[in-house]
Amino acid sequence: MGLLAFLLLYLSCLLSSALAYPLCTNSWAPYTLNSSLAFCPYNGTVCCDAKQDLSLQKKFGDMNISDPDCASLVKAILCAECDKFSAELFTIESQPRPAPVLCNSTVPVNSSNSTLNGFCAKVWDTCQNIYILNSPFAPSLQGSAGLVSNSTSSKLTDHWQSETDFCKAFGGSSSNDSICFDGEPVSLNNTQVPPPPSGMCLEKIGNGSYLNLVPHPDGSNRIFLSNQPGQIFLATVPEEASGGTLELDESNPFLDLTDEVHFDTQFGLMGLAFHPDFLQNGRFFVSFNCDKSASVTCSGRCACNSDVGCDPSKLGSDNGSPPCQYQSVVAEFTVNSTTSTPSSATSSNPSEVRRIFTMGLPFTTHHAGQILFGPTDGYLYFMMGDGGNKGDPYNFAQNKKSLLGKIMRFDIDNIPSAVQINNLGMWGNYSIPRDNPVNEDKELQPEIWALGLRNPWRCSFDSERPSYFFCADVGEDTYEEVDIILKGGNYGWRVYEGYNLFTPLESPGGNTAPGSINAIFPIMGYYHSTVNPKEGSSSITGGYVYRSTTDPCMTGRYLYGDLYGSYIWSGIENPPDSGNFSSAMIPFSCTQNSPIPCSSIAGSPLPALGYVFSFGEDNRKDVYLLTSSGVYRIVPPSRCNYTCSLENISASGTPSPIPSPSSAWPMKDLQKEWLLFFSPILILLCFGL
Ligand SMILES: *[C@@H]1O[C@H](CO)[C@@H](O)[C@H](O)[C@H]1NC(C)=O
Ligand SMILES: *[C@@H]1O[C@H](CO)[C@@H](O)[C@H](O)[C@H]1NC(C)=O
Ligand SMILES: *[C@@H]1O[C@H](CO)[C@@H](O)[C@H](O)[C@H]1NC(C)=O
Ligand SMILES: *[C@@H]1O[C@H](CO)[C@@H](O)[C@H](O)[C@H]1NC(C)=O
Ligand SMILES: *[C@@H]1O[C@H](CO)[C@@H](O)[C@H](O)[C@H]1NC(C)=O
Ligand SMILES: *[C@@H]1O[C@H](CO)[C@@H](O)[C@H](O)[C@H]1NC(C)=O
Ligand SMILES: *[C@@H]1O[C@H](CO)[C@@H](O)[C@H](O)[C@H]1NC(C)=O
Ligand SMILES: *[C@@H]1O[C@H](CO)[C@@H](O)[C@H](O)[C@H]1NC(C)=O
Ligand SMILES: *[C@@H]1O[C@H](CO)[C@@H](O)[C@H](O)[C@H]1NC(C)=O
Ligand SMILES: *[C@@H]1O[C@H](CO)[C@@H](O)[C@H](O)[C@H]1NC(C)=O
Ligand SMILES: *[C@@H]1O[C@H](CO)[C@@H](O)[C@H](O)[C@H]1NC(C)=O
Ligand SMILES: *[C@@H]1O[C@H](CO)[C@@H](O)[C@H](O)[C@H]1NC(C)=O
Repeated sequence: MGLLAFLLLYLSCLLSSALAYPLCTNSWAPYTLNSSLAFCPYNGTVCCDAKQDLSLQKKFGDMNISDPDCASLVKAILCAECDKFSAELFTIESQPRPAPVLCNSTVPVNSSNSTLNGFCAKVWDTCQNIYILNSPFAPSLQGSAGLVSNSTSSKLTDHWQSETDFCKAFGGSSSNDSICFDGEPVSLNNTQVPPPPSGMCLEKIGNGSYLNLVPHPDGSNRIFLSNQPGQIFLATVPEEASGGTLELDESNPFLDLTDEVHFDTQFGLMGLAFHPDFLQNGRFFVSFNCDKSASVTCSGRCACNSDVGCDPSKLGSDNGSPPCQYQSVVAEFTVNSTTSTPSSATSSNPSEVRRIFTMGLPFTTHHAGQILFGPTDGYLYFMMGDGGNKGDPYNFAQNKKSLLGKIMRFDIDNIPSAVQINNLGMWGNYSIPRDNPVNEDKELQPEIWALGLRNPWRCSFDSERPSYFFCADVGEDTYEEVDIILKGGNYGWRVYEGYNLFTPLESPGGNTAPGSINAIFPIMGYYHSTVNPKEGSSSITGGYVYRSTTDPCMTGRYLYGDLYGSYIWSGIENPPDSGNFSSAMIPFSCTQNSPIPCSSIAGSPLPALGYVFSFGEDNRKDVYLLTSSGVYRIVPPSRCNYTCSLENISASGTPSPIPSPSSAWPMKDLQKEWLLFFSPILILLCFGL
């Protein structure tokens, strides 16, 4: 049984590591070249700069390949490192290869010889008897990409008996949601884009206003909800269409931090995340804001300091408060000692186990605050805005030493001693994951995972494809954006707002030259003018890639909205895996038999959602809108009379019954135990270490 479990998990690890969104072999985003490369035939968005191009040229020259046909194939293969999909071609997430996956199609490439099957066969056929120095096809190099071996000259037939043999080792097809190299820069085929859903149907199941909805780690129909003033509740989700509402006891919170939390328009309890091993260790994490003048434990270093070229005495007061009176905190709590097992806990131990992070905020706006555990790496991601004031005057978001305007990544399982923390100049009690971007860019403060954000307001990992890490980033005057967050990525603020150059009104903290950064532009978003022609009030709220089948016409689409309530968009990627998204505003309404009737906006058919603060996803992958007027769940479109040809309508014209409740919720307890047991092996396998 153990072995079976292991194999299942190994398989799921392989599946979850599928990625394609343009990514380089060093796990960084590709960049946009000014001009073509001199040697490799790549331009536009690529993974090589002039220096890498030169080194590939030298590597190729050193191979001393006499046959021009073979030489041109090998050159193309070497240059595949410059392809914007090189991470996928060299399978860096599973087992990195010395050569890209060569297309092994069953369709003959050369019609004059029907035995030639795909590019891999063509390489074999052309190069099998040609001598290559330091051949990337020598077996000793397999699995050790990039290592330079001894200068030995060999031909393919020295190592491989036949084409079949060779292509078993180096070939791969473009099926199974992966891509392969066929001698040309990878281009994905456009597919027929399905039209946007005809509408999103909602039912209202709660009256409360919350910022976070986090599914219970036990996989059940329970969720945790937290509100901005500082309370966390454990609630049970009713079956869809059962007429039931959220079961939760407002007078009996799971944890109440209202005494410690500073609550105001942009302050409060901002984030909630459960440790990946919560069912064993009972650990969970809360991020919130506190007021230094009201709490002794609210005292961190000010984000405006000399390391980042900022003098707090020159900032002045903002809304009547001095700089760094308010702080951003991540704290650890536990359910240990409240109950025998973490999954049976209905309340938390109220005392903080450990302070993870504390940082004083220069102004009273833009400090995001969401926390999420990475589904594949198990590290804690912490979203942080630029710290506020119009136009990020101190240019914090581009400052590599500042943690403002950043997404951070912490290892909260290995906590160094106070002395080490102090020596390393860190901001709290965590360690830095070995592969944080500081490894490649020494100028970066080690906590930083991505930079150039303004106020990342709600991020999520696609539950089916966790390498797609979406964040919506609130704009200033013109554009609200959605980004896919990549290691070390610079999302441009405040050199750019969306796609356009941005000029701040004042910039005592200096400016960053557009040519000096490699900004990654949004994948989706909207101009303020499209939703609010007269006024400027727009603020994006990021959602989820919809992975439930409750509304089959929504499946696979990324959902996001505007805070001001009356706009929801759905975005889709085309071609699949290309990172090319397009989005459309979609209509929505509330079903007439909603458990809690929805009120509607006066003079409009739209339900009065109020402010769309946030989204949530439960263990069944059903998606919720968390608004100032309550909790809304996305339900089958037929319940609002929207047409969806994929919805299973029975002969009588009514939707088919939903699966029985007991079997429908995934049971995760057992799986978690296996995962714990095998996790060291899994980590090795998943990351190819
Ligand atoms: C791109 O070209 C412009 C003008 O030709 C130059 O100023 C800039 O430095 C170049 N950027 C890079 C990254 O080479
Ligand atoms: C890349 O180069 C080709 C051929 O030189 C040219 O046709 C194409 O427009 C270029 N693409 C970009 C994005 O510069
Ligand atoms: C390159 O190959 C030629 C024959 O094709 C040979 O004469 C020469 O010595 C080789 N050079 C090196 C550096 O091995
Ligand atoms: C087809 O390929 C095979 C082996 O790769 C070769 O022996 C044969 O001569 C080729 N036939 C033609 C017509 O090129
Ligand atoms: C092969 O590599 C080893 C170790 O790097 C070195 O000692 C040896 O001289 C090399 N042999 C040749 C033929 O280059
Ligand atoms: C890839 O797809 C083929 C058929 O499409 C299937 O037989 C094979 O098992 C798949 N391989 C993996 C690793 O999923
Ligand atoms: C792209 O389309 C062409 C022609 O329809 C087809 O031959 C090829 O296999 C497709 N490529 C991929 C990666 O699907
Ligand atoms: C929600 O609010 C409405 C209107 O105030 C009230 O009628 C209803 O009982 C409430 N429902 C729940 C589940 O709290
Ligand atoms: C909670 O209990 C578990 C199991 O006894 C233990 O492994 C874990 O370290 C405890 N966590 C804390 C924070 O005390
Ligand atoms: C680190 O932990 C210690 C002990 O819990 C705490 O006093 C300190 O404030 C923490 N550091 C930060 C920056 O939160
Ligand atoms: C991106 O998607 C849009 C809309 O589906 C499509 O028109 C466009 O051709 C795609 N671009 C690329 C480069 O595939
Ligand atoms: C949907 O259609 C049914 C029957 O035509 C009607 O009774 C119901 O009111 C409609 N519901 C909505 C939300 O328009």
